[in-house]
Amino acid sequence: MNVGPNACYLDQQREVPMALELRKLSHALGAEVCNVDVSKVSEALFGEIYHAFLQHGILLFRDQNITREQHIEFSRHFGELDRHDALPRDRHPEHPEILLVTNEPKLDGSPSDSRYTGRQWHSDMSFTPVPSLGSLLRGITMPEVGGDTVFANMTLAYETLSDGMKALIADLHGIHLSGTRKIANDDSGVTRATEQKRLNPPIAQPVVRVHPETGRKALYLGDKVKRFDRLTEEESKPLIKYLNEHATRFEFIYRHHWRANDIIAWDNRCTMHLALGDFDETQRRHMERTTVLGTPSGYVV
Ligand code: SIN
Repeated sequence: MNVGPNACYLDQQREVPMALELRKLSHALGAEVCNVDVSKVSEALFGEIYHAFLQHGILLFRDQNITREQHIEFSRHFGELDRHDALPRDRHPEHPEILLVTNEPKLDGSPSDSRYTGRQWHSDMSFTPVPSLGSLLRGITMPEVGGDTVFANMTLAYETLSDGMKALIADLHGIHLSGTRKIANDDSGVTRATEQKRLNPPIAQPVVRVHPETGRKALYLGDKVKRFDRLTEEESKPLIKYLNEHATRFEFIYRHHWRANDIIAWDNRCTMHLALGDFDETQRRHMERTTVLGTPSGYVV
């Protein structure tokens, strides 16, 4: 279907009682779901939303001025929610299903633990034995400009590799580490990283994952992977670098400029993402995320 960049279109290719209005976000992935209030979603409508989620990898819902409870309730349509035991410092004190991604200082005035969340290419919870199915991030307070998030289509990344490369990586496992992201250069940052590593021992995940619902293969890598299982870091590095650079080529990504009250739902099984940090850090950026549990994957090394 050929639609203009700003036009919503009816997904009329499907014979369904309720057609969603969608607007493509980029050539590679993503669609905006128009005219849906996520606090009023019936099971039938959710069926359509989930179909679009599987098809587009990420879905954007604009103008969702909702409460935390409504965020959680909408997220539960996607599946059971993570209570973020792997990231205890970052969860909301009263709502463990909500992960804070914020540079708002703590009550005692010290810097937020989660101000650098997502500053490397990753797929959520890949460093756990039950990596996430998907996440729903809500933009609450955004800086004047920037604070963008970039998403990459890992199915496309896999499918555009040569047959030789596909054969080479078919049986490889990447070791996903927790606590690798940019940290504050002070004791709090070091303590946090140490705690993260203690809670989450390294997990080897297949480099090529088969999506449990679409059956399509996708690359599963990112900056948390420093080596392949049974290979040294030195041996692994060039291939990891090549695959990550290939996956994040301009033609495979979508860059989102947030507005307050945007919600993006993404499929962690076939996309990865990066919080850019392209903003004035004296300004507030406050986001809240729910994380949907996926299926068990990988093994502890
Ligand atoms: C995340 O990685 O979940 C957060 C991404 C962002 O803050 O843009």
